[in-house]
Amino acid sequence: MDRKEEVILEVNHLTIEFHDHDTPERVVDDVNFVLHKQEILGIVGESGSGKSMSALAIAGLLKRHALSLSGEILFDGTDLLTCDRERLRSYQGDEISMIFQEPMTSLNPLQRIGHQMEECLRIHHKEMTKKERYDRAIRTMTAVGLDDAEKLYRMYPHELSGGMRQRVMIGAATIARPKILIADEPTTALDVTIQAQIIALLRKVNVKRETAILFISHDLSLVRQLCHKVIVMQKGRIVESGITEEVFEHPEQPYTQALIEAIPKVEL
Ligand SMILES: Nc1ncnc2c1ncn2[C@@H]1O[C@H](COP(=O)(O)OP(=O)(O)OP(=O)(O)O)[C@@H](O)[C@H]1O
Ligand SMILES: [Mg+2]
Repeated sequence: MDRKEEVILEVNHLTIEFHDHDTPERVVDDVNFVLHKQEILGIVGESGSGKSMSALAIAGLLKRHALSLSGEILFDGTDLLTCDRERLRSYQGDEISMIFQEPMTSLNPLQRIGHQMEECLRIHHKEMTKKERYDRAIRTMTAVGLDDAEKLYRMYPHELSGGMRQRVMIGAATIARPKILIADEPTTALDVTIQAQIIALLRKVNVKRETAILFISHDLSLVRQLCHKVIVMQKGRIVESGITEEVFEHPEQPYTQALIEAIPKVEL
């Protein structure tokens, strides 16, 4: 593994509580981890363990009115929880971007693929001309494995397969070369062959674009294939973390052992 040990994201004591009931509900509890440049970090854990909430907090996508957020999320040294909104907005989608499980819900059905590919450039790179944006979109679409990019550019999401839509999402999320890509269950809705292609694509983005990736998945065999390090969450807390191979070979917690034992053996 040849990568620089430069820290790109440092999460310290991240705690998230909901206040929409009488007693506050703590869904993320004192989470600490570091993501290095060009690293792929997996987050695993049972449903409801706080993986998505942590990811959304880092991406700056949590609505703050019903919850409290505390701790620090240091991106390139800036605390995303306390920096001004303008600064935060300048990072969102540009330096830190996120993809989700079902691309159909994140893509706008009424807008052409090309328009959606270029969204981040329109928001964050106003200096670019229309022609520059178009060229970048076509190049990015080709890079994420979408053939015939000129034709796809004019198409609508419903005209694409699920796998192609996820490629569009990855392209749109990485068109501005973010430093961090957060992928929350990006392959769960796809069949196994397409899953493998998307995993290969994420690995390519990581290596070629030098993008660090936070990869959230229920599929531990995918995490084992893709991630350099892994953290295991249970009830909002990190219960185990380390180099992926070490955690899988020698899990310390019975909870981690149980998660690993639940992997279908045929995959390994
Ligand atoms: N609006 C809300 N009010 C109170 N609790 C909430 C709210 N939204 C989510 N939660 C709770 O936050 C906890 C963590 O949810 P989160 O979505 O992070 O889990 P997850 O680990 O991503 O699970 P999954 O694997 O199913 O995606 C869950 O227990 C959930 O019920
Ligand atoms: Mg989730």
